[in-house]
Amino acid sequence: KRLVVLVSGSGTNLQALLDAAADPAFGAEIVAVGADRDNIVGLERAQKAGLPTFVCRVKDFDTRADWDRELTEATAAYAPDLVVSAGFMKILGKEFLARFGGCTVNTHPALLPSFPGAHGVRDALAYGAKVTGCTVHFVDDGVDTGPIIAQGVVEVLDEDDESALHERIKEVERRLLVEVVGRLARYGHRIEGRKVSIP
Ligand code: GRF
Repeated sequence: KRLVVLVSGSGTNLQALLDAAADPAFGAEIVAVGADRDNIVGLERAQKAGLPTFVCRVKDFDTRADWDRELTEATAAYAPDLVVSAGFMKILGKEFLARFGGCTVNTHPALLPSFPGAHGVRDALAYGAKVTGCTVHFVDDGVDTGPIIAQGVVEVLDEDDESALHERIKEVERRLLVEVVGRLARYGHRIEGRKVSIP
């Protein structure tokens, strides 16, 4: 199966997928990496792995719809079977979802539906949650609202600050994402309403 991974930052989730895909039994190969900005470590990881990359920056387009169209076409050029949004910090638009909505997964560093959006770790900490975690879900037209595939739980420690907690979540998140993407690639999936089943 062909994977395109979308990143916006350090790309440690991307790196976990790259490492897993080195084993042919994983069932998927990363064919390209896309980003919404330049000069991020995530793109360096892709280049180091010899992968093609593309960057679609919102500010380079007159409208958000133009950006969405460009991101869709740039992604479609690699004919992915699965798109993984791994720390990609933009909301995917209508055209992208029309084309890849049924086969795009996102990873979020909180236990959805709690703490959706760009600050899930900070929000859980500020709320005083005792456990939080990460969620891998299919993307739909909401923000972090698509059908949930898998979740992992992480304890919140009294001494945690946002970055310490986020690092601990990311350890669970990388394992969860690799496991989910491998299963989707090898076995496919079915979505009925909000229920995701992987044979
Ligand atoms: C991940 O925790 C992701 O859930 C969140 O930002 C982080 C990205 O980390 N949106 P990385 O770029 O994969 O290291």
